[in-house]
Amino acid sequence: MAKKAAKKSKAKSKKPAKRAAKKMRVVARKNGANGNGLPKPSARPYGQAGKALEGVKILDFTHVQSGPTCTQLLAWFGADVIKIERPGVGDITRGQLVDVKGADSLYFTMLNHNKRSITVDSKHKKGKEIIERLIKHCDVLVENFAPGALDRMGFTWEHIHKLNPRMIVASVKGFGPGPYEDCKVYENVAQCTGGSASTTGFRDGPPLVTGAQIGDSGTGLHLALGIVAALYQRNRTGRGQKVLAAMQDGVLNLCRVKLRDQQRLKHGPLTEFSQYGEGVPFGDATPRAGNDSGGGQPGWILKCKGWETDPNAYIYFITQAPVWSPICDLIGEPTWKTDPEYATPKARLPKLKQIFARIEDWTTTKTKFEVMEACNAVDIPVGPILSMKEIAEDQSLRKTGTVVEVDHPKRGKYLTVGNPIKMSDSISDVKRSPLLGEHTDEILTDVLGYSKKELADIKLSGAITPEEKKQAAA
Ligand code: COA
Repeated sequence: MAKKAAKKSKAKSKKPAKRAAKKMRVVARKNGANGNGLPKPSARPYGQAGKALEGVKILDFTHVQSGPTCTQLLAWFGADVIKIERPGVGDITRGQLVDVKGADSLYFTMLNHNKRSITVDSKHKKGKEIIERLIKHCDVLVENFAPGALDRMGFTWEHIHKLNPRMIVASVKGFGPGPYEDCKVYENVAQCTGGSASTTGFRDGPPLVTGAQIGDSGTGLHLALGIVAALYQRNRTGRGQKVLAAMQDGVLNLCRVKLRDQQRLKHGPLTEFSQYGEGVPFGDATPRAGNDSGGGQPGWILKCKGWETDPNAYIYFITQAPVWSPICDLIGEPTWKTDPEYATPKARLPKLKQIFARIEDWTTTKTKFEVMEACNAVDIPVGPILSMKEIAEDQSLRKTGTVVEVDHPKRGKYLTVGNPIKMSDSISDVKRSPLLGEHTDEILTDVLGYSKKELADIKLSGAITPEEKKQAAA
């Protein structure tokens, strides 16, 4: 009897899934789709079939670096990104590290391309109404306020979800749930708490932070991926969800190999670290590795011709085992190819310092680019230390759109980094960042449907104007 009931309920539970599949097949047939429910491949030439995220509307409540990095990427993929900024002030970075008086800083312009800007006071009654309309209009709200700030504005997850159950609410926070969840966090705090600083620097020096903004931009990247995945899931479920990228988690994710090493320590010394070859004992935590390579192939930064005056006349040199023979030939030590003291990676480990010193004798006779040319010819992996000046002037990076020159009405031409992710059918163009509130009127009327009269009333209400103008209007 029970068996029969179970069979019946199984058959019953299968029904909705079967119905959904049938419905999908019918829709697919109607749309001229192929077997797996996708439309027919577009006949348009690649790059002319719209952008990847075309039609996706983003309510961008981000500031500083982590959040803006994320929404800038989404904008490059074709989403309509509407950035809400505080009237009169805007994103704090507009006025930080200013180099051209009266113009938005490069800090701001380089993180907010391809967006529209609307000024709204989120604590003003009318301002809240405008934001509520935007919530109903958009697909994703992205924010990186201090913990609790969005709730204090009245925009709790529950409230947002009630207004728009399809909305994805994506946040960057310093920490995930736990003892530090209420803390404000900036880049270097995340680098320190995510395991990067304790594993960066030289063994005999203090922990170091890195120049790459792995806490801010790195977490923005993580968040963007979460948003795209949530949009994809929404196609199936019809509902939004919360997406959280904590900066500590993002940094730790990028330091994955260091947690790997932490566990390897239990089973003996980390033989690829130069400290092993130097006979320095390991402690109980992953040590700072200096310029040792993160993988199993020993590497180090070596001086090149001109190092005495040029701080970047260096090259990263990897003594990859399969190319040991060409390395020996290049540096003029052909006997090391067969000498048992040098011929195997294991034999070389205790002598890495001496080996790199010998290679450096050779690299100092050449510029870093000459070393690169000679090494690449025989497949030896090396990386010249490129200065920002060299990168800015690199014509191949200009050609690929990785370094782009943009014109700005207040600051003139400036260089920026374009979309580092290249797609053959969704080609990014870099448009200058918006001026503060540049699109306020068009968003209120064209997007949210306020009439001319309502727009005039909103202007008088002080909801979109700075404090002093608000007082004058009162
Ligand atoms: N209208 C009115 N008020 C606004 C507003 C608007 N359009 N936009 C922001 N505000 C208010 C917020 O409501 C908040 O007010 P409250 O404290 O009364 O609630 C206030 O501005 C400040 O926001 P906050 O996020 O606390 O900024 P901060 O400058 O004090 O802190 C950070 C900056 C980056 C430390 C903090 O936002 C943070 O920890 N963010 C999460 C982690 C992160 O992204 N860090 C990396 C930044 S690159």
